[in-house]
Amino acid sequence: MNITDSIKYIGVNDHEIDLFEGQYIVPNGMAYNSYVIIDEKVAVMDTIDADFFDEWLEKLQKNIGNRKPDYLVVQHMEPDHSANIANFIKEYPETKIVASAMAFTIMKNFFGTDFPENKIVVGEGAKLNLGKHELTFMTAPMVHWPEVIVTYDSCDKVLFSADGFGKFGALDVEDEDGWACEARRYYFGIVGKFGVQVQALLKKAANLDIQIICPLHGPVLSENLKYYLNLYNTWSSYGVEAEGVMIAYTSVYGNTKKAAEMLAQKLVDKGCPKVALNDLARGDMAEVVEDAFKYGKVVLATTTYNTEIFPFMRVFIDTLVEHNFQNRTIGLIENGSWAPTAAKIMKAKLEKCKNISFTNTTVSIKSSVTQQNEEQLDLLADELK
Ligand code: FEO
Repeated sequence: MNITDSIKYIGVNDHEIDLFEGQYIVPNGMAYNSYVIIDEKVAVMDTIDADFFDEWLEKLQKNIGNRKPDYLVVQHMEPDHSANIANFIKEYPETKIVASAMAFTIMKNFFGTDFPENKIVVGEGAKLNLGKHELTFMTAPMVHWPEVIVTYDSCDKVLFSADGFGKFGALDVEDEDGWACEARRYYFGIVGKFGVQVQALLKKAANLDIQIICPLHGPVLSENLKYYLNLYNTWSSYGVEAEGVMIAYTSVYGNTKKAAEMLAQKLVDKGCPKVALNDLARGDMAEVVEDAFKYGKVVLATTTYNTEIFPFMRVFIDTLVEHNFQNRTIGLIENGSWAPTAAKIMKAKLEKCKNISFTNTTVSIKSSVTQQNEEQLDLLADELK
């Protein structure tokens, strides 16, 4: 696949993976992208996952023939991109490895060597001339690890964005939901905590004339780049992407679920533009995390359990807090047969987040939903619709 006349795609699709990064389901598989820039010098942009060396090498060699790559640019040391550095150097011992100082430290941790014979350290603003193409490196710490660099090619106006602008899903599967759905789940799962750092990268990118974005996962982006940049700006500033209410619940015997469903129906009846209802025990937690960041209003419904809250809700709230959840309005529904304390516990956990406001109404259920609870749900819906 040609990205431009002189930039070729040499990435691979993974349909065998069970969990990406050991935790995310990827029903459409995963793509590990890699690119080669063919000029007076040849530069390979990142390697790919450990399982795909032969396929990747074949694609590279199809594109460069007998030429030997002059440079391997390592933008990110997470193994889904770096696992084949040693194999690559075995094949091409003369190739220089271009990476940040921290990337070489991590390289030594993974491979037992930082390849001193091949090593070129680059920092912010460093340039690499390939002929017509001149690469400029920019540091992008914590997008998604501390050693990350991204690369701008001023010749074809391409930003190689490392994990930034990535997406779950292999490239040979059509994603019927469009780019944003799986890109959002990927973003909030993987770099959501580091909004400040993503904002810093977007500021650097704003000074560049970018026509194409080449990420390390997901499709190459070449049209309507404003759409993607705007979404990244909203996500990384923890802004509200869509009007509506996200309800997440856990339910042991169906009573808390019934309250969550009643609230959802009331919101719809009152004209709420969108209600997303999620069962934390049965759905994909990463999908619910994504929804919590998408909408401005969130309702959490759970039971008191072992003097704490139900485990799936505890994990969910901990995940939100860990990912820098902020700028949201939250409503709470608790259930407890003899001493409901779930609302108090959820509130205490969420108070660690910035700029969170709670609704005036908290719904407190004792075992089953009563007429009084229905009235409370009605009040809650009025506050959130
Ligand atoms: Fe795609 Fe952070 O590795």
